Amino acid sequence: MENELYSLETEAKECLQNLSDETQAEEFRIRFLGRKGQFSTIMRSLGGVSAEDRPRLGQLANSVKAEIEQLFEKKKATIQNTTSLSESSAGPDLTLPGRCPAGGRLHPVTLIMQETCAIFESLGFSVAEGPDVEQDYYNFEALNIPAHHPARDMHDTFYVSDSILLRTHTSPMQARIMETQEPPLRVIAPGKVYRCDSDITHTPMFHQVEGFLVDKDISFADLKGVLTVFTQKMFKKDLPLRFRPSFFPFTEPSAEVDIACVMCNGAGCRVCKKTGWLEILGSGMIDPEVFKMVGYDPKVYSGFAFGLGIERIAMLKYGIDDIRLFYENDQRFLSQF
Ligand code: DAH
Repeated sequence: MENELYSLETEAKECLQNLSDETQAEEFRIRFLGRKGQFSTIMRSLGGVSAEDRPRLGQLANSVKAEIEQLFEKKKATIQNTTSLSESSAGPDLTLPGRCPAGGRLHPVTLIMQETCAIFESLGFSVAEGPDVEQDYYNFEALNIPAHHPARDMHDTFYVSDSILLRTHTSPMQARIMETQEPPLRVIAPGKVYRCDSDITHTPMFHQVEGFLVDKDISFADLKGVLTVFTQKMFKKDLPLRFRPSFFPFTEPSAEVDIACVMCNGAGCRVCKKTGWLEILGSGMIDPEVFKMVGYDPKVYSGFAFGLGIERIAMLKYGIDDIRLFYENDQRFLSQF
């Protein structure tokens, strides 16, 4: 029994040294010092020891157990101390950089709108804005599109009343400005326009920038020059332009302007439907009828006009293939710009 006590003492001391956390400490307590622990078992076997040895062995067992208890309490205190220290050092790390509030950003349509205006302003154009809710007169009549003209069909107009509508293009600004100002004029008119149409290339509301220049001796070459500078600055490369004959009631001659496909550089791909060209705007020389309606003499003045779709430019520039993405307010899309 004496030997058993000494070897238990050695074993307990060894174990004590290896304790490193509170769980291990608790396991130790149960194994050695608990009610069913190894010291209790030895104490209980004192009953079978001879009466003369019992007091001495009893005393010995008590003192060994007391010593181990003392050492255990000490060890437990050290463990608790280090745990609480490491807990407090796992608290806030004051060396970490602060949290910044998420910054807002401009919508891709706003970005392209601003860039477009800046390019034309650098060419001497001034910016004018007009009403979204427009009179039939400015949207159609003054642009040489009288009632029952077939060109009205192309516009999918939202009517407010017989004579009031949501403008279907920014061209009414030509009439509004020319009506109140004399040439020379160099104006762009950015803004929202509305058409009853919705699919992957159309939304009921979209943005256009109208541009026009009126002076003496303005020719198609001036139009070509201005649009070439615009596309070069917008797409940051020397893209070839193509003028395709077209028809608009307010310009004569009229042309639709294509740029070499920004995706394949004119080689032909899915985006340009293998043609190598992308249409970006409508344009032409202002029709003498339009001049007459605002009181300009078409024999004295000439001018050009163009209208471009901002979403279309944004789609080409950023490689976006569905126009509806602009208006779904999906942060994953918007935060890329
Ligand atoms: N307003 C036309 C449209 O929305 C675009 C346009 C074509 C504007 C020719 C012009 C122009 O100024 O000359 O389809």
